Amino acid sequence: ARWLIILAGGRGERFWPLSRMMHPKQFLTLMGNHSMIRSTRDRVRSLIGPENTLVVTGRDYVEKVQTNLPDVPSSFILGEPVGRNTAPSIAWAVREIYGKDADAVVLVLPSDHMIKYQKRFQKLAEMALNAAEVHGGFYTFGIVPTHAETGYGYIEQGAEVSHGIFRVKRFIEKPPVEAAQEMVQSGHFMWNSGMFVFRAHDFLVAVEEHIPELSQGIEELWAHPERLDTVFPALPQISVDHGIMEQAQNVFVLPADIGWDDVGTFAALARHLPRNDEQNAARGHAIFVDSQNVTAISEGPVVSFIGVKDLFVVATKDAVLILSPDRSQDVRQVVQALKEGQ
Ligand code: GDD
Ligand code: MG
Repeated sequence: ARWLIILAGGRGERFWPLSRMMHPKQFLTLMGNHSMIRSTRDRVRSLIGPENTLVVTGRDYVEKVQTNLPDVPSSFILGEPVGRNTAPSIAWAVREIYGKDADAVVLVLPSDHMIKYQKRFQKLAEMALNAAEVHGGFYTFGIVPTHAETGYGYIEQGAEVSHGIFRVKRFIEKPPVEAAQEMVQSGHFMWNSGMFVFRAHDFLVAVEEHIPELSQGIEELWAHPERLDTVFPALPQISVDHGIMEQAQNVFVLPADIGWDDVGTFAALARHLPRNDEQNAARGHAIFVDSQNVTAISEGPVVSFIGVKDLFVVATKDAVLILSPDRSQDVRQVVQALKEGQ
C-alpha cells in the first residue's frame, strides 16, 4: 500500500518570535487557516489516508502533532529523544512501515513547505508513487532555480525515462556558492524540493549499502523498541540528501512547476503576503501612514508605522522583532543570544 511520512523535527529558529522553542515553524499558521503541518497532510489526503500516515518529530512535539493531526493514530507519531537529522528519522519510520507492509511505497514530505498549485503536485506525486511501485528507484521533485541558493540540494537532469520522469545524473547537496552559480547558469540543474518517493524495501537496502551503521541501529530499534533512548542518540547524524540521495544510483526527478517555496525565512514569507499599493503587507492589525514596503505580523498588538520604509516587524504578546528585510537569515542570532542569557 501507499504510506506517507511527514518530517516535523525542525526548530524554526529563523521565525522567532513567532516560533518559540515549543512552537516551531511546522505548527505555525503562516498562510491560510491551518498550521503548516496540517496543510501538508491535507495536501495529499486524496492519495494517502491518515491510517497510513507516520510523523517523525522531536519527543517534545508529539502532543502538538497529535493536536494538529487528530486522525493520525498516536502510535504512528514517532518521537525522537534527540534530532539526528533526516536520514535516521526517515529510516526509523520506513522500518516501522516495512514491518507492517513489505510492499509499501512511501511518500516523504517536510512539514513546513508551501505549494501553491496543489492539483499539479498531487498529479506528480501520483506519477512518482506509480513509478516506484512498478520500477523501484528514488524519486525527487525538481524546482527551476531562480538564484544561487546554497541551502538547497541541486539535481542534474538526465534523459527522460518515461513521460515527465527524468534520470538524475548527479545530486549535489548544499554546494558552495560558486558551484551553485555555475549550476544555475548551466541550465541543467534543478533544486531538490526535499520530497521523496520510494519503496520501503529499496530505501532500507540503500541504507544498508550506504550508511551501514544506521541500518544496524534501526534494526536494533525495530527488534528492541524499549532501547530508543540509547540507540537513537548513537545513530549517525546525517541528512537523507547526503547519506542516500547523493550516493544512490537509481535516482529520478519529476520537474515540478507547483509554486513551491520552503518559506525558510521571513523574507520568503513576505513574498507570499498580499500587498497594498504602497507595497505594505499585514497579518494582524497594522496601520500604515506614509510608509512603504513594510511587512507587519502581529499576534495581538496594533502595530503602526509613520514615514518608514523597507521594514519587517513581528509583534507578539511579549516580544518584538524589527528586521531589515535583507537580514532575515540572521534571526537565529537573536535566538542564540537569548539562549546564552543575554
Ligand atoms: N523528525 C525530524 N528529525 N525531522 C527533521 C530533522 C530531525 O532531526 N531534521 C530536519 N527535519 C525535518 C525538518 O523539519 C524539515 O521538515 C525536513 O526535515 C527537512 O529538513 P531541513 O533541515 O529543513 O532540510 P534543509 O532545508 O536544510 O534541506 C532539505 O530541503 C531542501 C528544500 O527545502 C534538503 O532536502 C535539500 O536538498 C532541499 O533543497
Ligand atoms: Mg528546510
